[in-house]
Amino acid sequence: MRFSGIVQAVFVSLSFLGCTSALTYKGGDLSSLPIVEGAGVTFKDTNGATGKLENILKTHGMNTVRIRLWTSGTYDLTFGLAMAKRVKAAGLNLVVGLHFSDTWADPGHQAIPAGWGSTVSSLNSSIYTYTKSVVTAFIKQGTPIDILALGNEINVGLLWPVGKGGTTAGWSAASQFLHSAKVGATDGGFKGKTMIQISNGWDLGVQQFFYNNIFIKGALSTSDIDILAVSFYPYYGTGATAAALKSTLTTLINTYGKDIIVAETDWPAVACSAALSASFAKTPAGQIAWQQSITTVLAALPGSHGKGTLYWEPGWIGSAALGSPCGDNLLFASNGTARSSVDIFKSM
Ligand SMILES: *[C@@H]1O[C@H](CO)[C@@H](O)[C@H](O)[C@H]1NC(C)=O
Ligand SMILES: *[C@@H]1O[C@H](CO)[C@@H](O)[C@H](O)[C@H]1NC(C)=O
Repeated sequence: MRFSGIVQAVFVSLSFLGCTSALTYKGGDLSSLPIVEGAGVTFKDTNGATGKLENILKTHGMNTVRIRLWTSGTYDLTFGLAMAKRVKAAGLNLVVGLHFSDTWADPGHQAIPAGWGSTVSSLNSSIYTYTKSVVTAFIKQGTPIDILALGNEINVGLLWPVGKGGTTAGWSAASQFLHSAKVGATDGGFKGKTMIQISNGWDLGVQQFFYNNIFIKGALSTSDIDILAVSFYPYYGTGATAAALKSTLTTLINTYGKDIIVAETDWPAVACSAALSASFAKTPAGQIAWQQSITTVLAALPGSHGKGTLYWEPGWIGSAALGSPCGDNLLFASNGTARSSVDIFKSM
């Protein structure tokens, strides 16, 4: 009794100091890295030492890198394979998010790639062939993908308009496409975990709109997917609270029994007039406090199903707003020097 009391006291004080290693995946999305380096930025650690972004972040506790993959364009397969070499050379886990598009895919955009056709049957076949060829290419160069996200923020389906959710035919097509992608990955030798990512992780209605519809007998089955991922941002609605996140993710776990990752998040490093869903300071310390609130939620989910967080583009100098209403959400200053919030991974 006494012994366990001491152990518990030590554990509690360590977690109070933010020293626990609660999550398996402590990550960041570094997709913009070649663009930022190409613009002449040199990254520096908090002590001024110059280094590669992935190595600096690893020093501060990052163990996972997420990259996006488009079917062509800036984030094409050539880009992805080059990034994978760097990620694996640094000894980090690799998460690849397939957009199944020649450009950005998100809840409002899911454009069919050029040449994929426009019928359910041609798209079902294209997504199979593409996914199989992608996982094979990563395996062939000795940098296998650890986590493969099928689609990006596919709240309303994918490959629009054919696979657009909201109607029976649309969900049926989307369900078939995702199953086909999973079969393609398996046939290509993929041994990692599959993931689906939906935005607004705090909003149960948004999550259920997707998950209540997407699993259809003969198409996508729950056994095709290992991880349910969410995006969780503070400035797209003041409902994005830790309490709402906890309650929504708990319902997902109780329904599907799957692991959970917060696959995109960030917090402003500097003043921002947008309404935010939490009251932490808009400073590097506030960035860490926001992450700690997420980690606290994930670490307490049923069945230890909360597995990780991936900070969105911590080093995208030149695009610091990252499309958000806040001007700068990075873990680095514009001169390339790490902010104190680069230690955020220690709070994951
Ligand atoms: C879609 O493609 C997958 C993978 O090839 C296949 O298993 C499935 O039967 C196809 N679905 C239909 C309806 O053709
Ligand atoms: C980089 O910018 C930050 C924030 O403006 C500043 O505190 C720091 O001194 C700068 N570092 C260098 C090496 O210029």
